[in-house]
Amino acid sequence: MFAVGVTCSDCHEPHSAKLRTPGDGACLQCHAPDKYAAVTHHHHAAANQALGCGSCHMPARTYMVIDQRHDHSFRVPRPDLSVTLGTPNACNGCHAEKSPRWAASVVENWFGANRKGVQTYGAAFYAAWADQAVAATLLAAVAADGNTPAIARATALTELASRVSPQNLDLARAGLSDPDPMIRIGALDMLENVPVGQLWPFVAPLLSDPVRGVRIRAASLLAPVPTANQPEADRERFERAAAEFIAAQQLSADRPEGRTALGSFLVRRLITDAEAEYKAGLRLSLQYAPAAINLADLHRQLGRDAEGENVLRAAISASPQDGGLHYALGLTLTRLKQPDPALMEFRRATELEPDRARYAYVYAVALYSAGHVSDAMTVLKHSLTQHPVDRDTLQALVGFSQASGDISGALEYAARLAWISPDDQGLAHLVEELRRQAVKSNAN
Ligand code: HEC
Ligand code: HEC
Ligand code: HEC
Ligand code: HEC
Repeated sequence: MFAVGVTCSDCHEPHSAKLRTPGDGACLQCHAPDKYAAVTHHHHAAANQALGCGSCHMPARTYMVIDQRHDHSFRVPRPDLSVTLGTPNACNGCHAEKSPRWAASVVENWFGANRKGVQTYGAAFYAAWADQAVAATLLAAVAADGNTPAIARATALTELASRVSPQNLDLARAGLSDPDPMIRIGALDMLENVPVGQLWPFVAPLLSDPVRGVRIRAASLLAPVPTANQPEADRERFERAAAEFIAAQQLSADRPEGRTALGSFLVRRLITDAEAEYKAGLRLSLQYAPAAINLADLHRQLGRDAEGENVLRAAISASPQDGGLHYALGLTLTRLKQPDPALMEFRRATELEPDRARYAYVYAVALYSAGHVSDAMTVLKHSLTQHPVDRDTLQALVGFSQASGDISGALEYAARLAWISPDDQGLAHLVEELRRQAVKSNAN
């Protein structure tokens, strides 16, 4: 409804915030009563208390114990999506004793097989957050669809940052000149992992975008390019946008988040004030882990890992359950040549945050380097059950299996990798080679 221009004051009296017409009257200003305020639509003649439009289209939640709010996204009930994606739906909000599958089949009986509803991006984000192989394709489709709300398209672009490829790079380029500033910011987010040297020509124009949020995102993206390498013509606008970025963070200098964001920006500019910002962030809250992790990383860059260890240990004393801190400490200890304590930290990180494939992968590699080959394989195989398409995990399984002479094992994992990356020629060759070896060893 927002997309077609319906606003708050169509339903609410703008000065009192009261509904213009009580009950379903607000909806029936526009939606035909004989079609919607009818048993043929709501199918609840049997309910002793009449169901309003809001019961199904604006289910209420109670916020902060006392504050009841009605969902203003005006969705159609989709119990079928509860089945596939695990999202909530209005039907089971009341029929809590019944399953989403039950509700989905009732809706299908009432309205036929094809589901309506304009909001169709749920599946793409579900695939992204579950790390499914189809995520890149689904997200790209959401980002490219002009009928999808800008906030969803922008989020899809942001999610593509970890899946950026030559195939979808044009999407980011198109997003940079989208009329909606949210999409321009999403497109800048998507370029986060592209080598910054390639970005300058098409990102620099956004340093003088009419919207500040876009200008400062562009400045943070381009920050790693040293001033000397910036084209002359752009220097001034970079400096202006960078100053705006710094001012925006200083506005929240009372928060550890603001201090840490500024610290990371200064690190990118190779400015030594970064350390002071991270430390100020930690003084505001020792529990703000990103400040500790970034400070330790800065220490790494300056060759001061022993100090980084102290920072991380202090942060762990404040947040012992934070997997990210244990992982960072493990990396630091590895560089300090303390492999056994490092292993313990990696194990702790993996136990605390099993949904991070990276932690299990690094733990397994550390185990392997320490000679604990079968433990390493166990960790990887367990992680693979949770992250069946994680490339690093599969790659390590291929390598470790090959090294221990388990050719059929290596072949199985390599085939799975090739299935995820059908365009990878090197991988296709490896699968062929392993297959040849497997045949030979069987013949022997
Ligand atoms: C000012 C007019 C107006 C009012 C008032 C209004 N609607 Fe709508 N509604 C629309 C228009 C226009 C559409 C879009 C129709 C289309 O695109 O086919 C729409 C679409 C919808 C949809 C379909 C959404 C989807 O995903 O397909 C639902 C559900 C809906 N309205 C429920 C309500 C409810 C509930 C109320 C009362 C709380 C209400 N509307 C009040 C104009 C209105
Ligand atoms: C018992 C739940 C329920 C109630 C009550 C209800 N609806 Fe719906 N409504 C649905 C479902 C389910 C759909 C989706 C139908 C589908 O998937 O085909 C829907 C779809 C819609 C749509 C989308 C377009 C369409 O025709 O499918 C609009 C508009 C709508 N309802 C308006 C209303 C209005 C206005 C009221 C109140 C007078 C109302 N609904 C009451 C369950 C309900
Ligand atoms: C299509 C109609 C419609 C539109 C558009 C709409 N509202 Fe509402 N709003 C309602 C209904 C219906 C309720 C429930 C009121 C009740 O049951 O007393 C409600 C309730 C509220 C409430 C009370 C808290 C709650 O959720 O029950 C607030 C606050 C509110 N709306 C703010 C807004 C704002 C701000 C906008 C615009 C961004 C907006 N509404 C747009 C229909 C609408
Ligand atoms: C506001 C609460 C509420 C919502 C939302 C709601 N229902 Fe109901 N429903 C009831 C009540 C009350 C009855 C009356 C019979 C009863 O008490 O079980 C009922 C009866 C039914 C019945 C017939 C009796 C039965 O249990 O088999 C079906 C089927 C049903 N609802 C399906 C749905 C579906 C599908 C949706 C979502 C589109 C939905 N309901 C949304 C409250 C609700």
